[in-house]
Amino acid sequence: MENIKKKCLFVFGTRPEAIKMAPVVHRFLQDTEMDTRVCVTAQHREMLDQVLDFFEIKPDYDLDLMQKGQSLFGLSARILTAMQPVLEDFKPDYVFVHGDTTTTMMGSIAAFYAGAKVCHVEAGLRTHDKYAPFPEEINRQITGRITDYHFAPTQKAKENLLIENIDEKGVSITGNTVIDALYWGMEKLKDYDDDEIQSLKNQLDFDKKIILVTGHRRENFGEGFINIRNALKTLSEQHPDVQIVYPVHLNPNVQTPIFEFLNEIPNISLINPLSYPAFLWLMEQSNLIITDSGGIQEEAPSLGKPVLVMRDTTERPEAVTAGTVILVGTDKEKIVSEANKLLSNADLYKQMSALHNPYGDGKAADRIHQFITAL
Ligand code: UD1
Ligand code: UDP
Repeated sequence: MENIKKKCLFVFGTRPEAIKMAPVVHRFLQDTEMDTRVCVTAQHREMLDQVLDFFEIKPDYDLDLMQKGQSLFGLSARILTAMQPVLEDFKPDYVFVHGDTTTTMMGSIAAFYAGAKVCHVEAGLRTHDKYAPFPEEINRQITGRITDYHFAPTQKAKENLLIENIDEKGVSITGNTVIDALYWGMEKLKDYDDDEIQSLKNQLDFDKKIILVTGHRRENFGEGFINIRNALKTLSEQHPDVQIVYPVHLNPNVQTPIFEFLNEIPNISLINPLSYPAFLWLMEQSNLIITDSGGIQEEAPSLGKPVLVMRDTTERPEAVTAGTVILVGTDKEKIVSEANKLLSNADLYKQMSALHNPYGDGKAADRIHQFITAL
């Protein structure tokens, strides 16, 4: 009898989705019993391509949807429309989406319309506040409602799903694939050097402590970003011995306030988004990370780097409980005072940097693959 292959379509569009899906895509591509294809919405263009290059993923379908300054309305509509011919062409049994972006939500709705089973990687993260993060909390709640197979990174994420009456049989705890990607990236970095890393090496003064900063959340646009840039300016003035390095997200709502206000300060380096290996390298060199990013909160504990998270609430409470992450919101005084504590108190620093990572063991992709194989 002919062996019918399971048809699996991986759909993603932004930098973090690509990083966290890459190990899963590779695991499925190794399995010749599966027919695996990749569809990128290219909700991000340059920042997605950096990741595809590093992980050597060649999409079967590239919808090329990003527009400069795109709105949630336009992007959502374009994704739904553009997914239809892909789904009609490949007719997947399983569609994999990741996390909580517009691509995730619209990709899962499109898969549901096409009659495919929806598989959600990084399922079950919740703040239970529909405005924080905005619009991601609603994106993942809607995706969770549609999903057939939920790959929860932690026990807490699974519990969040069960509270919502999701059928336990469809939920599997896998760890977060971000750790698979991190291990892969760190291994490759051992004998890796490129122009970007060389240029960072030339630019940075290794006698100074490095504070690595990223920020891009929509709910922080406006007042939040004003507070963040004021906090960074104060820290730069208080600590001439510290170097603040900020790879600035390409969203114009981030670029404008950050470049206008922080461009000419000698110990603040505003740089372009880094490729994943260069960013991992820079995280390793850093003393402290200040961010509102989801993925960076998960990666930093593995590298022993304390993180101040510029959010009032997080869907990733595990690292806060473990003590490797402190929530500081976008309150200028709190950002400055918590950074000062970590810069001056060696015991506190040591305590925060010595704790282990609650997000995974690098085998999440294998677990996801095993689950689908067993269906
Ligand atoms: C998106 C996700 C967010 C995720 C983040 C990761 C949504 C609603 N938001 O936010 O959950 O945390 O990605 O970074 O899905 N741009 C470029 N080149 C790029 C990428 C972005 O120029 O490679 C600019 C474009 O002007 C684009 C804008 O950034 O219109 C915003 O991109 P978008 O994906 O809509 O929102 P993000 O803020 O990146
Ligand atoms: N990252 C990167 N280059 C950068 C900044 C971040 O490769 O200049 C990586 C980082 O290691 C992490 C991911 O991008 O894996 C986080 O993406 P982002 O902060 O944009 O999104 P979020 O995780 O908040 O959704």
